[in-house]
Amino acid sequence: MNRYEIDQIVREIDIHGQPPGTEPDRQYFFMAKVRAHVRELTKSLGRKPTCCVTTFGCQMNARDSEKLVGILLQAGYDITEDEHADFVIFNTCTVRENANQRLYGRLGTLKNRKKKNPYMKIALCGCMMQEPSVIEKLKESYGFVDLVFGTHNIYKFAELLNAVFENQSMVIDIWEDTDKIVEDLPSERKYPFKTGINIMFGCNNFCSYCIVPYVRGRERSRKPEDIIREIESAVAEGVVEIMLLGQNVNSYGKNLEEPMTFAQLLQEIEKIDGLKRIRFMTSHPKDLSEELIQVMKHSKKICRHLHLPLQSGSTRILQAMNRRYTKEQYLALAKRIKQEIPDISLTTDIIVGFPGETMADVEETIDVIKQVEYDNAFTFIYSPRTGTPAAVMPDQVPPEVVKEGFDKVLKAVQDMAKQQVKRFQGQNAMVLVEEINEQDPALLTGRMSNNTLVHFPGDPSLIGSLVNVKLEDCYGFYYMGHQVP
Ligand code: SAH
Ligand code: SF4
Ligand code: F3S
Repeated sequence: MNRYEIDQIVREIDIHGQPPGTEPDRQYFFMAKVRAHVRELTKSLGRKPTCCVTTFGCQMNARDSEKLVGILLQAGYDITEDEHADFVIFNTCTVRENANQRLYGRLGTLKNRKKKNPYMKIALCGCMMQEPSVIEKLKESYGFVDLVFGTHNIYKFAELLNAVFENQSMVIDIWEDTDKIVEDLPSERKYPFKTGINIMFGCNNFCSYCIVPYVRGRERSRKPEDIIREIESAVAEGVVEIMLLGQNVNSYGKNLEEPMTFAQLLQEIEKIDGLKRIRFMTSHPKDLSEELIQVMKHSKKICRHLHLPLQSGSTRILQAMNRRYTKEQYLALAKRIKQEIPDISLTTDIIVGFPGETMADVEETIDVIKQVEYDNAFTFIYSPRTGTPAAVMPDQVPPEVVKEGFDKVLKAVQDMAKQQVKRFQGQNAMVLVEEINEQDPALLTGRMSNNTLVHFPGDPSLIGSLVNVKLEDCYGFYYMGHQVP
């Protein structure tokens, strides 16, 4: 359902009645109630109240934030990117420790701002809120926060917002897990021409270092008809590129009433008229099927890019990480993909400093980087997460050893990327124009099918369209070019 249809429903609701028991009707009811509160607030302020949603973490969180913004717009807020807003929401990430520290720092700044603006409200949500120790800390030392909720009940945001207007003290609502998926809630896309689409939630893999399964719950897939309907309506509103989102898209559909594979879902999505490009994130190597490789190979819309997280090139470490593939299996898979789809770009995630990792293991990782020839890789320093098996493993690696390994891996990644990215130099490529270049407003910035950035002179009216660009010069991670007919 689009924003106008939801607006129409919300307009007609009698807020003096009882809230409905079923979703999404219950949330529409609370959107109507919050609208009334926001009208009152508008009178007190003499202007519409503003709201700022700040997002940390991955694409899942980015998409969740679009859903929060959709509800805030229905409620009557003006959206701003300025944290001096009347309502500030932090959508948090906890995948590594440094993400947590950043949040506490930002909260300190907000405390002072709140003293100056008596109408100001602060909300915290997202993955970090699913950790009991965080909630304890917030209750003890951050009593000025108005609303705290987690990842499982984000669909209840309208109801929680209403509770904030009707309560003086901190509203906290955290669920341990859910099997519920609520459809037809509003969302507001950050870009009019591209969007993320959740196809599944949660993760069942329990890689031994990773906190995501604990904070995002068990894996559950959306029904294919709901996914298709959402994409069709996005395309009707001008979207040409979608990114299908899941922690492990390759296990999509296994627990549906009528099971379906990810490759089958992709074939259905391919049929949607007007949709030009399909991307997806993330693919676990252990579940990547030959069926998927064949569907990608024959597709006209699936982008020539695959993010295939390696984590480590050492079979021993992979086993301790509970990744369930060996170095050899990963290499064979990457080779097979490149054999079938020669123009594909592979990218990856690597962790350095996992407990027990030696320099010999790091060399194995570098060996994989060289053999697979990645276009890019995100390299992370291992961060122990409370509650995960790896956090209590013996042989935690001393920081100076981690640093040495990290620098080596980073250099290998950068050298490889420089060599790989430039292999299309001199060719023409279709580029989806995304924005005016940040450094030079005479240039536009777009993305090739394989996700490489391209800058070229052009008119901003091209934003959102696919144009043919000659890739003239490669500068490490991006190209400079010129539009060609
Ligand atoms: N579901 C995705 C990854 C989600 S988290 C997948 O399986 O690929 C994104 C990346 O963060 C991971 O690929 C991993 O490289 C990194 N990561 C996760 N937990 C980490 C930790 N405890 N320390 C360092 N990096 C971590
Ligand atoms: Fe974390 Fe592994 Fe699940 Fe990815 S697949 S979210 S790394 S547990
Ligand atoms: Fe972070 Fe949660 Fe994503 S922990 S990486 S925002 S799933």
